[in-house]
Formats: sequence, structure tokens, C-alpha cells
Amino acid sequence: MRILVTGGAGFIGSHISTQLLTRGDDVAILDNFVNSSPLVIDRIEAITGRRPEVLTVDLLDLAATTAAFRGFSADAVVHCAGLKSVAESVAHPAAYYRANLVSTLNVLDAMSATGVDALVFSSSATVYGDADTMPLDESVRTGIGISNPYGRTKHMIEQILADEASVRSTLRFVALRYFNPIGAHPSGLIGESPTGTPNNLAPFVTQVAIGSRDHVTVFGDSYPTPDGTGVRDYIHVMDIADGHLAALDRLRPGFAVYNLGTGQGRSVFDVIRGFEQTVGSPIPYRVAPPRRGDVAVSYADPSKAARELDWAASRSIDEACADAWRWQSMNPDGFAQRS
Ligand code: WQD
Repeated sequence: MRILVTGGAGFIGSHISTQLLTRGDDVAILDNFVNSSPLVIDRIEAITGRRPEVLTVDLLDLAATTAAFRGFSADAVVHCAGLKSVAESVAHPAAYYRANLVSTLNVLDAMSATGVDALVFSSSATVYGDADTMPLDESVRTGIGISNPYGRTKHMIEQILADEASVRSTLRFVALRYFNPIGAHPSGLIGESPTGTPNNLAPFVTQVAIGSRDHVTVFGDSYPTPDGTGVRDYIHVMDIADGHLAALDRLRPGFAVYNLGTGQGRSVFDVIRGFEQTVGSPIPYRVAPPRRGDVAVSYADPSKAARELDWAASRSIDEACADAWRWQSMNPDGFAQRS
């Protein structure tokens, strides 16, 4: 298949692109590189022996987006591009709505102008808001109690895709709701490279372990959980990538949603301990008050994807910690060049 991956140079997109190239698909990475590095392309080539086509385009530019789509003739689009900082989205809501919503509308326009009818969208478990029936399955109501604009853009985009697919019978759309992606490609050549201070737990922990930061701040230790810290469903990014391949292989007319999670909840202390074992030394932490907008517990019921996509996460959290640590050790500054 020929797959156009928007945001294909980012953390998730680069792993999806790598897995697609590895299995023999043709890939075009469409990216504006605002939050990613062109070095990723060389690394993907080093891993796979194949160089993806690169379309340096801003999805807010409809004419350029349509021209890029016309030049590649994709069988399907994997739409990962978007801004993803929860804190930035609270500080700059309009910019987030524009970046994530308008870019998606432009992807849909470009698909329709060039005759592409298949799309897999990067959604998020954040669409479940403050739902507290655990595990979360796809029938749980979404959109209630989402605490930030970033999360609301994911929910709105799901609604846009559902509405479009309901009136155009040729469309085959899927939204994959990622739980908490961690880890890296086992080669250590690609991984998560946040700009500035990491918002997410795992990259923060590996930056402490490598000595770039002095301690992890644990946001809350009196949640109603076994050890008092927040519980999440951490899933290896390679499993997330493989979930996209499975979804692409089983696209059907209409709109479908699937959780991509392991079904296992792990606490912040579990994650810190997992990295301590991998790294072989203690990881300093300090407990601070809970972070605004955080829920106590979130983990998936991943059985729908197992049933309908024949996909299940297969990599352990220890493997994810080991792979994340290999990436961090081999690239202490991520994709940023040390001057
Ligand atoms: C995980 C746990 C924190 C950082 C967010 C978005 C979601 C998705 C992934 C991204 C929580 C705790 C964290 C730290 C900590 N989107 N924590 N110290 O909040 O589940 O999900 O990121 O693109 O949509 O909402 O993930 O990694 O930020 O936090 O104690 O420095 O770790 O409180 O319990 P989260 P996270």
C-alpha cells in the first residue's frame, strides 16, 4: 500500500512510518518539522534501508496540502499531525483549535480533491474525559469532563470524522484512541524528543536518569489507588505503530473507533521503579500536589481491537523502559544537536 503519514517525523508517526516501510509499504511523510527534526528521516532510512518520501508542508496551507496529496497518490492517510501539549493548549486555546481542527479539515479536503477515501486518525484516551468506569471501553460516553482544549480537539475531530463518514459511503475512517505511549524503537535510533521541558512522565524520568534534570516531580500521592499515585495504561510505541498497520489492513466503510492500550494500569511509582531497574540506579523524585485536570485512574479495555483488528499489545513495560532508556542513552539530547 501507499500510505501518507501526516506528522510522520514525530514520535508516534516516525514509528508508524518505520513499521510500514519495514513491511514493504511505500510511505510519504508529510510534516512541517515545527516539533520534529529532519534527522528522523535519516534514522528511519538507517533502520529500514528505505527512504520515505518527504513532503515538507504545513497542513494549514490547503493549496500546498492538496498539491502534496496529488503528487503522492496515497491509498490511505495516517493522520498524526497536531499539537499535543496539554499545558500549551490551556494557555493558547485558539491556536490549538486552529492547528488541530483546521489541519484536519484541510486533510479531508485534500483527500476528497485527490480521491483518497481511507484515513486512520491519532486520537487519544483523553476523549473519555473524567469517565471513571474502568476499564474504559469504546462504548463509554466521550466528551464529558475533558479538562483542556487539546483533549477537546481530539473529541471534536472524532465527531467530524463520524459525521463525514455517515454521509459519504465510500469513506473508511478509523480513530485509534491511544492510552499512554512510551518506549522507542529497539534500535535506539528513533524515540521521543520533546522540545523544552517534557510534559509526559516517561521522557521526564529518562531525562532525570541521564542527568539532564535533577528529580522527577510526582504529581500527587494520595489518589485512591494502591500506592496513591496516578494510574495509567502505558503502551509501547511499537505496539501503537503495529495497531495502525492492523487498522489499515481492516478498513471498512464508515467510522470506527478502537482503544490502543494494554489493559494494565501502572502507577507513577511503578514507572519510576521500572526505569530504576533498567538504568541500575535510583531515580530521585519529589512528591508535589496533583496536576490540575489529571484523573486518578485510566486504563483501557483493549478487547475490541483484539476482536476486530486482530491486534493486541505484546511488549511489556520492562521492554518499553529498556527501549526508552536505550534511545535516551544513545541520544542524550534527543534529536536536538548538542552545540
Ligand atoms: C501520566 C501520569 C501524571 C509527569 C497526557 C494527555 C493525553 C496524552 C498523553 C499526549 C499522571 C504523572 C506526569 C510528571 C507525574 N496526550 N506525572 N510527573 O496525563 O495520562 O496524558 O499525555 O500527547 O491526552 O492528557 O500522561 O505522561 O502526562 O502523566 O507524576 O512529571 O504521570 O500525574 O498520573 P497523561 P502523562
